[in-house]
Amino acid sequence: MNIKTSIWTRRLPAAAAALALCTLGAVHAAEPVKIGFLVKQAEEPWFQDEWKYAEQAAHDKGFALVKIGVPNGEKMMAAIDNLAAQKAQGFVICAPDVKLGGAVARAAKRQSLKVISVDDRLVDGAGKPISGIPHMGISGYAIGTQVGQALAAEMKARGWKPADTGALRIAYDQLPTGRERTMGAADALKAAGLPAANVYDAPQTKTDTESAYNAANIAFTKHPAIKHWVTFGLNDEAVMGAVRAAEGRGMRADAVIGVGIGGSKTAMNEFTKPAATGFFGTVMISARRHGYETAANMYEWIAHNKVPPAETQTAGILMTRANQAKVRAEMGQ
Ligand code: GLA
Repeated sequence: MNIKTSIWTRRLPAAAAALALCTLGAVHAAEPVKIGFLVKQAEEPWFQDEWKYAEQAAHDKGFALVKIGVPNGEKMMAAIDNLAAQKAQGFVICAPDVKLGGAVARAAKRQSLKVISVDDRLVDGAGKPISGIPHMGISGYAIGTQVGQALAAEMKARGWKPADTGALRIAYDQLPTGRERTMGAADALKAAGLPAANVYDAPQTKTDTESAYNAANIAFTKHPAIKHWVTFGLNDEAVMGAVRAAEGRGMRADAVIGVGIGGSKTAMNEFTKPAATGFFGTVMISARRHGYETAANMYEWIAHNKVPPAETQTAGILMTRANQAKVRAEMGQ
């Protein structure tokens, strides 16, 4: 419901106005819809894209969007209280830690705010997904499998022998989708013939490029004999960090094949450089759907009492330098 609607209802005769109100559902005519969109890493291009598409939904549907970066639990709790104080009716969230799920659910209930999670599924104290919070994300394992298959295909195209190839898994296992994505990739590589002993884990402390760079450097130092590498992680930034660390050791596009997950600016910057880098490709996932649909679904829930689907998994497409324009068009981005 938006301001325009409340003006109409004032102009209508009483009976018609009452009828209009009945059909309009949860929100009172005088209350404009306000929705929060909280993300754990506001500086990451993926989340900026989500915000951009959520803004489009706000424009199309006529609601106010409040974008807040929530890098830690304290900021997240403050943001939820702040939304309630501004009379928002709900929020979409990618939390800084999925284990804060119980806290999110309790805060939302206390403040009578509706919640939808995006990207990272919130879990309860026992580590189980919180079923009362509708979620939109990806099948981490399936998308990871696509990454592993892309790496295996490119290895084959280059004639790299599995026995001579190291696979660097930039790992962020405390985030379930992070673990699923990278395990899916590792399993696909093993299924394609890569010896299990050739998969090396490089744990990162955060999900950004710098942490991945540091993690990869340690792994490369430990295994100097490996001539060529394939590398993967939970997002484009992870793979970018590994690729930059490899470059620092003189390993360039002919010695490294990296395939990320995302397809936002981080990947596009690489694909538009004049010469190819070790960042070979990415499985592009839909920031448009994650941003637009979650925000639009929240609006429908608030304004028309339409409860969103409990879980939606979106798909990904392999994007490389060669097909990037086509893939972006297919994904509508
Ligand atoms: C997680 C990652 C982000 C991005 C999203 C996509 O939140 O940390 O980098 O990949 O998933 O769903």
